Amino acid sequence: MGSQQKAWYETESLKSLYIKASSNAMRNYHGPIVSPKTTFTGTNSLIDFANHLGSFLSAEDKRVLLVVDKDLPKFGEKVAETLKTMKQIDSRIFSNVLPEVPRSTVMEAVEVCNEYDPKAIIAIGGGSAMDTAKMILLLYEKPEINLNNLMAPSYLGLRKKVYILAAIPTTSGTGSETTFIAVVTDTDREPPKKTEVVLYELCPDFVVLHTDFVKTMPPYLTMGTGMDALAHAMGSYVLTMSTEYTDINNLKAIQMILDYLPRAIKRGNDLEARSKMQLGSYIAGIGFGNVSGGVEHGLGHSFGALFHAHHGVCVALYLSISLAFQSKATDRFKDLAKVFKIKIEGRQRDEILRELLEKLRAFMKLVGCPLSISELEKPKISREEYMSKMDQMVEYAFDDYTTLSSTRKLDPPTIRWMYEIAYENKLDDIMELFYK
Ligand SMILES: [Fe+2]
Repeated sequence: MGSQQKAWYETESLKSLYIKASSNAMRNYHGPIVSPKTTFTGTNSLIDFANHLGSFLSAEDKRVLLVVDKDLPKFGEKVAETLKTMKQIDSRIFSNVLPEVPRSTVMEAVEVCNEYDPKAIIAIGGGSAMDTAKMILLLYEKPEINLNNLMAPSYLGLRKKVYILAAIPTTSGTGSETTFIAVVTDTDREPPKKTEVVLYELCPDFVVLHTDFVKTMPPYLTMGTGMDALAHAMGSYVLTMSTEYTDINNLKAIQMILDYLPRAIKRGNDLEARSKMQLGSYIAGIGFGNVSGGVEHGLGHSFGALFHAHHGVCVALYLSISLAFQSKATDRFKDLAKVFKIKIEGRQRDEILRELLEKLRAFMKLVGCPLSISELEKPKISREEYMSKMDQMVEYAFDDYTTLSSTRKLDPPTIRWMYEIAYENKLDDIMELFYK
């Protein structure tokens, strides 16, 4: 971002090495487990957090920057008021949070920080607010940094100016509250490309999961973000970079999402379902965040950058394709099948996979998620339009950070084939990715 220069993970020579390195050599050499320090849950969570923050910040440091989604000013005001009345903490609200996180808005907030000198940054909103807050922390403390060269193990020593990064998610699905990834848009490329900044120090220190912040989420957003969480857990589970730690998180998250997402969509004020989805998405965030997003994320990012559908719907549209393609090289889909209550013993691999995809598609139908690009309503995309951007989608997907982690090696012709299948997403066509 900030130049035409490409990011390190787009380097040609690295791609062929990466699958081997990440699955074998690196796994037993470098594998930190990263998660927030404290996550406050339940109806007292905001007060717990305010108490903690109030005790941590000394009297002369009681200034926080609240990075608030444009459409949710009341949540920003509620947090500001709680911090002020309980602990005399002052705040500034920065609400120019845009989808896809363009660098220009981040720099605008950095200017505010230069003047205001906040000692904590608190994101209140969905993935864009949380990613914006991470980028503000990074570019406020290290304005000279070249984002294209950052890798997770780069240690920059952040938190010299801002001591605390916190997140109060208002959607349940992105997992950004638990991850050290910020998805931002490189607006200097034409057309713009989504770029991942991956750095351990971007993981928030504190998280507040309070149902007051999610109970008014409308059904389509509940569905889209919930499907994002499901794609995080299922998509990353099949990656060979997974560990026992990420496995337990991903498998539990899938179960919770299957149980509670339909309820949260049907009745928004079902607080049990809302609260389980908050936690389920958070757990999926821990799961995928400590592995990588799956192939469906690489395909979905590139499609989303060009067609502007909801991120969760984008990745859900490519989830079956991602699972079918990689299942040729791994048996891990069988564990997913068990969560979907599919019989494994004595059955052929393709039979199990097919039933898993059938059940996944039935679930998508149940929650109102389109099964293919042709079924997508927001926005409607004709086959001609879709095909006209094929070359760009393939190029961006091949260069996406997440495709490096694929359990089965990806090349541009295969990615093109996947994209072609996805327009109709017929099950027989998807299964061909497994057979070939
Ligand atoms: Fe996602």
